[in-house]
Amino acid sequence: MADSRFPNLTVLQHPLIQHKLAILRDKSTSVKDFKQLVNEIAMLMTYEVTRDLATEPVEIDTPLERTTAHRVAGKKLTLIPILRAGLGMVEGITQLIPSARVGHVGLYRDHVTLQPVSYYFKVPAAETDRDFFVLDPMLATGGSAVAAVAKLRASGATRIRFLCLVAAPEGVHAMLVAHPTVPVFAAALDRELNQVGYILPGLGDAGDRIFGTR
Ligand code: PRP
Ligand code: URA
Repeated sequence: MADSRFPNLTVLQHPLIQHKLAILRDKSTSVKDFKQLVNEIAMLMTYEVTRDLATEPVEIDTPLERTTAHRVAGKKLTLIPILRAGLGMVEGITQLIPSARVGHVGLYRDHVTLQPVSYYFKVPAAETDRDFFVLDPMLATGGSAVAAVAKLRASGATRIRFLCLVAAPEGVHAMLVAHPTVPVFAAALDRELNQVGYILPGLGDAGDRIFGTR
């Protein structure tokens, strides 16, 4: 679904994604179900997010004859979960892309300033023909996403997409300003942030709900 304010944003409206998101938002959903749903939504989103990946022809022998088939081109696709909540999306995506590499960006949002604090960065070499998917369930002020993508770009990555489950207009705008060439994919664009930077209606603290820490 297109939103004229945000040319960088694609909201994935598939009924199964929306159904699972409805359960995810419900405060009575258990930690076990929440974790499973985050992975399932990430997996469903992957089908759409990878729609335009480049392919290349390859000659193979079927049991009957030689033929030309097509496979995804370039270096192994790399997932970059933003710690910690982004980890919740990795398993679902790797079920569809088992050969994906995984790099990690450690960032947390200071509760008072809402500014991202960096504590870890380890990603595979950023060759020019490698696609990177940065993962975080929540795009709120956008501070964490903007900082993670900036670090990735500084390491040489050029082909970057950002995947989240719930986005706030403020975060999508921040990404558009800082990284206009990075497409943002979300399962929902929510209304606004509250005074302490939580997305409304949102789903609460994604990291705490995935890992059961509150
Ligand atoms: C949450 C979320 C994002 C960030 C979004 O992480 O997973 O990384 O906040 O907020 P922003 O767009 O305003 O930066 P948090 O800082 O709570 O860390 P956690 O994943 O370790 O719980
Ligand atoms: N981080 C979260 O986990 N949830 C929000 O609503 C905002 C930031």
